[in-house]
Amino acid sequence: MNKNNKSFCYEGGALKMDGVSLEKIAREFSTPLYVYSAKQIRNRFMDYIRAFEGMNTLICYAVKANYSGHILKMISSMGGGADVVSGGELYMALRAGIEPEKIVFAGVGKTRSEIEEAVNRGICFLNIESAQELETIQEVAAESEKSVGISFRINPDIDPQTHPSISTGLKENKFGIFPAEAMDLYRRAASMKNIQIKGVHVHVGSQITSSGPILEAARYACVFADRLKSEGIEISYIDIGGGLGINYEGANPPTPSQLAGEIGKVFKGRSETLVLEPGRSIVGEAGVLLTEINYIKKVPGKNFVIVDAGFNDLVRPAMYGSHHRIVPVEKEGEKLVADVVGPVCESSDFLAESREVEGIKKGNILAVMEAGAYGFSMASNYNSRPRPAEVMIDEGRSFLIRRREEPGDLVDTEV
Ligand code: LLP
Repeated sequence: MNKNNKSFCYEGGALKMDGVSLEKIAREFSTPLYVYSAKQIRNRFMDYIRAFEGMNTLICYAVKANYSGHILKMISSMGGGADVVSGGELYMALRAGIEPEKIVFAGVGKTRSEIEEAVNRGICFLNIESAQELETIQEVAAESEKSVGISFRINPDIDPQTHPSISTGLKENKFGIFPAEAMDLYRRAASMKNIQIKGVHVHVGSQITSSGPILEAARYACVFADRLKSEGIEISYIDIGGGLGINYEGANPPTPSQLAGEIGKVFKGRSETLVLEPGRSIVGEAGVLLTEINYIKKVPGKNFVIVDAGFNDLVRPAMYGSHHRIVPVEKEGEKLVADVVGPVCESSDFLAESREVEGIKKGNILAVMEAGAYGFSMASNYNSRPRPAEVMIDEGRSFLIRRREEPGDLVDTEV
């Protein structure tokens, strides 16, 4: 267990989330099941708000981490904005009541229709990732006779010291524009009739566990903004992306308030609005995936704990080799070193490998911890598996925020 995660504790061998028994929740709503702590999501978001209070800041929650409409409404009611990367995420953010002026839109492959929607809704700005995208945005804005806010995402070639699959600011990554080309594009954009230059964007990676790479990116963006200014191009936003990590297996990332202290020094005396795009650090530790042990299979030299959640429900271990703690919801049962595997027909369908797990008994429930970010949002229907339900725990109450899919949902979009 992550001792610093105040939402979870054992009481008499039973795991509770904010005082509510997870065993009871699993039996009531069935498994596999995502369960979130509303209290923790609010606290994490408010930690950012409070930490950056003294600075002119816009916190744009990264919708990709968890796009649940209920969570987005919570963010909206706390005054949050959204960082979106698709028309779907834009739709979800607007539907949750997030004001267009608080939405920023990133991504290397925005389609024309996604750009049209963003232009028509009047979002704060689009973070442009290529010269051709700039042309398309100008064309779309001219057609609808609108002015559109933009910023360019710079690739600063900074190593975020994280998993290679989630590094985004290295020069070999597909993201962003190299600084020299970006300078040219700013000049070109300045002459475009329907383009309003708003800012500079950097985002160097995710699950970053020290402030170094984030500060380096922030400094870089500030220097870049100064160079633009010296060319007569004034911007009003510096967007330094998201990326702050969480504690999956003992990491001790800086808190928003520690980060704010350091970023405050970098931004001292600046007039631009600072934009942050945190995702994982808001929802990651607030969620668990509950899964029931279906079978225990012992073969020579190896044990398998076969659970009812597969990599279609939580893909991070299979996709990145990510570590998620797995703990029993009721402590009674065997302690075993085992691979915790799902029912999907692939050998890479595992939640943990060669892991010592407690409370192993057929029918027991396990909690896969730190599953609130990039859990449900990356779930799929592979093997024709309906996706799990989601439950929120809020002030002692527990309620469904997404019902479990049924086999019938698998054919709903067929024609
Ligand atoms: N802004 C941009 C432009 C991004 O690309 C991302 C994440 C974020 C913000 C939010 O980053 P966060 O604060 O959540 O670290 N599926 C992977 C993570 C991919 C992150 C992609 N971009 C995982 O499960 O670890």
